[in-house]
Amino acid sequence: MRDRLRDRAIMVIGAGTGIGAAVVARLCDEGARVCVADINFPAAEALAARMTAAGHCAFAVAIDIADETSVGAAFAQALAVLGRLDGVHANAADLRTIFADSDALDVDLAVFDRTMAVNLRGALLCTRAALPHLLAAGGGALVYTSSDAWVAGEPERPAYAMSKSGLNALMRHVASRWGRQDITANAVAPGFVMTPEMIAGGQVPPAFVDQCLKQVRSPRLGTVDDIAGVVAMLLSDDGRWINGQVIHVNGGTLLR
Ligand SMILES: NC(=O)c1ccc[n+]([C@@H]2O[C@H](COP(=O)([O-])OP(=O)(O)OC[C@H]3O[C@@H](n4cnc5c(N)ncnc54)[C@H](O)[C@@H]3O)[C@@H](O)[C@H]2O)c1
Repeated sequence: MRDRLRDRAIMVIGAGTGIGAAVVARLCDEGARVCVADINFPAAEALAARMTAAGHCAFAVAIDIADETSVGAAFAQALAVLGRLDGVHANAADLRTIFADSDALDVDLAVFDRTMAVNLRGALLCTRAALPHLLAAGGGALVYTSSDAWVAGEPERPAYAMSKSGLNALMRHVASRWGRQDITANAVAPGFVMTPEMIAGGQVPPAFVDQCLKQVRSPRLGTVDDIAGVVAMLLSDDGRWINGQVIHVNGGTLLR
């Protein structure tokens, strides 16, 4: 397993913290050369430095996926170092306003617009920037991070769920349009995962954690590593005949 991604050139976007950071560590562990891209550049830089110190090949670039110019510049920087692109994990989402994403009657349109600008339009911008390079490499893998929320029908967080539904539609489009050119596009849809930053921040209400534990069929909540393993598989040859799928990684919270 350690060499499964040997020398693969992979960009992880939204990689500074949480699930993205775990994906970076997993890809490095499997031998990939990794571009660590995030709007939180200090976090991306610190992670890339930790990976490099551990003997891996990783470097950081700044990216704001809501800004087309920034996306273009980040991909140019990534390509200048990597020389090619074999895979992209579009993982970024703006989660700062998720608790203000109340319901369809009440949600502030600024919250709705920002959610769409990052989670959905940003994913499209990343897709547009990535595809020419993946095609130039003779094929490659795009992995998006969706969420159980896209299908859960929750009474809150409508903008977030809509953004993730749209993301899945984009992913299916990419798989259909470019699959014959050996592009795979898939989405990983996590259930609730306590990231190291959430644990350290202590801001997730214990009642919410208890509720998630009651809903999950596994004996525990998910970890960032549970998600990273599936993303790595989709970016490897083990995932080359998986295309156009939303893969739920949720301990059985939703049965699909
Ligand atoms: N943690 C969970 O329970 C959970 C569940 C389902 C889905 N997800 C999804 O997993 C992904 C990662 O979430 P996480 O929980 O690790 O949270 P996180 O906040 O730690 O990760 C999101 C990353 O995206 C970056 N980002 C935000 N806006 C950006 C922008 N405009 N441009 C570039 N980067 C930007 C952040 O800086 C951060 O590093 C998200 O897509 C989220 O919707 C998380």
